[in-house]
Amino acid sequence: DKGNHRHFMLKEIYEQPVVVAQTLRSYLRPLEERVALPDMEFDLASVERVAIVACGTASYVGMIGKYWIEQLARVQVEVDVASEFRYRDPVLTPNMLGVVISQSGETADTLAALRHMKAAGLTTAGIINVPTSSMAREVDLLLPTHAGPEIGVASTKAFTCQLAVMAALAVNLARAKGQLTPEAERDIVHHLQEVPEAMSRAIAHDEEIAAMAPKIAAARDVLYLGRGPDYPLALEGALKLKEISYIHAEGYASGEMKHGPIALIDDTVPLIVLAPSGPLFDKTVSNMQEAQARGALVVLISDADGIAQAGENTIATIEMPKVHPIIAPLVYAVPVQLLAYHVAVAKGTDVDQPRNLAKSVTVE
Ligand code: F6R
Repeated sequence: DKGNHRHFMLKEIYEQPVVVAQTLRSYLRPLEERVALPDMEFDLASVERVAIVACGTASYVGMIGKYWIEQLARVQVEVDVASEFRYRDPVLTPNMLGVVISQSGETADTLAALRHMKAAGLTTAGIINVPTSSMAREVDLLLPTHAGPEIGVASTKAFTCQLAVMAALAVNLARAKGQLTPEAERDIVHHLQEVPEAMSRAIAHDEEIAAMAPKIAAARDVLYLGRGPDYPLALEGALKLKEISYIHAEGYASGEMKHGPIALIDDTVPLIVLAPSGPLFDKTVSNMQEAQARGALVVLISDADGIAQAGENTIATIEMPKVHPIIAPLVYAVPVQLLAYHVAVAKGTDVDQPRNLAKSVTVE
């Protein structure tokens, strides 16, 4: 049931504050100001390396998880798309934790990668939405997301719920590795508790994003830029756009612009820049300005400070609430999803059932 929404995708975007809160509820212990995981039969302190494997949108959660886990826990992380991991003969050692991420829990390549990790003797954890799925049954440690059924083929609420659980995993690893003080953990708990409200404030920009969508819908190519954890989000933005609007789109790490993609820029190319204010902001903005000098049609997604500093010469700005960097990917996911949605609606494509795509990819 779509309720009063025109598409399942829009309904699922709007559900995010509730389902992310629901997911966080099973990991946060507000009274103790701690982040907990379900009981497990192994010691996270013994984890020396992490291998994260997933496909598509879920693989971008893995990439964001790499930033979080390496920064907070000082544990080395590798991220692979499952179809590559299976066949590249990765070096797997028993002190590794293997993590799979999947909405359906049935994606053929991810399931095969999970079995490969288990056969190599790894302890495995799975961030999975469907609790009765094959992966949910086969992982050593099930880390459920509570997104509820996701009907739209383009993943939205599963993505942000996966991020919430990934944050919980990163914090627990960090504590187990002796890298996190109780004060630092308390701060993270408070920031995570702010996520649903911040997501609601992001959703409030829906109409504004709908109004700018026709400008993007006319483009042949669209580029997305981000740095740090906003780089995987740029990849996610590009995937979402091509998947449902059939416009060619690419996401780049901002610093890579001048190594090639800037050659694509002219005054017909929209450039979606994901840049919360903070330590990485100035660098991303300088990459953005190089593109603006070549005519790029910039949409800057930032907070009030960022927009005040760099909002000039853009075709639009979308103002996000100012949030701590650790939760920014959850909040900035919302305008990225809404933009793809409204561009597709403006183009008249079948948003919930895009051509050539299946919700669950059970063949390789
Ligand atoms: C993109 C999308 C796909 C899935 C991918 C993995 O919007 O939905 O890229 O993320 O097929 O699916 P799961 O998470 O079910 O393993």
